[in-house]
Amino acid sequence: MPSDRITKGIILAAGAGTRLYPSTFPISKILLPVYDRPMVYYPLFTLISAGIRDILIITNGKDRQNFERTLGDGSQFGVRITYEVQHVQRGIADAFIIGEKFTDGGPCVLILGDNIFHGEDLDRLMEEASKDTSNATVFAHWVPDPQRFGVAEFDSSGKVISLEEKPKNPKSNYAVIGLYFLPGDAVGKARTLKPSARGELEITDLNLMYLREGRLKVKTVSDDTVWMDAGTFDSLLDSAKYVKDMEGRRETKILCPEIEALRKGYVTKEQMAAWIEPMKEGDYFRGVAKFMETM
Ligand code: DAU
Repeated sequence: MPSDRITKGIILAAGAGTRLYPSTFPISKILLPVYDRPMVYYPLFTLISAGIRDILIITNGKDRQNFERTLGDGSQFGVRITYEVQHVQRGIADAFIIGEKFTDGGPCVLILGDNIFHGEDLDRLMEEASKDTSNATVFAHWVPDPQRFGVAEFDSSGKVISLEEKPKNPKSNYAVIGLYFLPGDAVGKARTLKPSARGELEITDLNLMYLREGRLKVKTVSDDTVWMDAGTFDSLLDSAKYVKDMEGRRETKILCPEIEALRKGYVTKEQMAAWIEPMKEGDYFRGVAKFMETM
């Protein structure tokens, strides 16, 4: 039955992680730890907090089993997780083609596996985007180095007027972050994309199609929202430090999918207690247990 909000999400996690060799010789970048949990827990948290309970994870062929071992069928979070393989890195927009059966003609959120977000502002913006199933919504964040990203240009009224992938001369400092809420026709549109100069089906080209049709919303997230792209050794370390510092300051876990699943009522306290029972000697699950004492 068609839903009045977006209920499905894809985590794109098929990268080879070549920039992180030799750390990624044995395992996907997206399974490397960021502080006390595998990186994939963070995009999973973002999807759960956006109310997404049906999740497809796209992995490379080598790491599929590692992802399955890490997250299983998602029932411990009260969500459903399935897996598909991207055999060749054809670009971010390829996620919609691989996910065609999964989305089944419906709208979907795509999140990049190495993007970590933290901010209440984003929660509100995601809630609005989830309810708009006929337009595309993406988000822009101010960055000092826009050349590294997809860049949005706005007119004086704040309306988006151009999008460019990794421009040499960026028209603004607003980077499009790795979180895309796209309607059901994204699959058909992705199929018409031609590879870019770097040989990829670009997510920016897909978003441009919506811009030309007057169906693209670009929402600016506030500076209070933290966005980290944990794709380099330094950003991996910075992300881990951020999570550790914030948790220390708040004396509670942040960006924790188990806690978000409890908050949303996707799992009961009893179900979570049974799941973490054999693991609660570790600091991570001790943190989840501590949260449960406050419920
Ligand atoms: O981080 C936000 C940026 O992500 C956006 O501003 C850009 O518009 C967008 O193109 C993308 O740029 P990146 O250069 O950061 O993308 P990258 O090639 O590093 O891929 C991002 C993640 O997606 C990475 O973990 C690998 C994964 N990936 C990428 C491609 C191209 C796949 O799993 N399969 C792919 O085919």
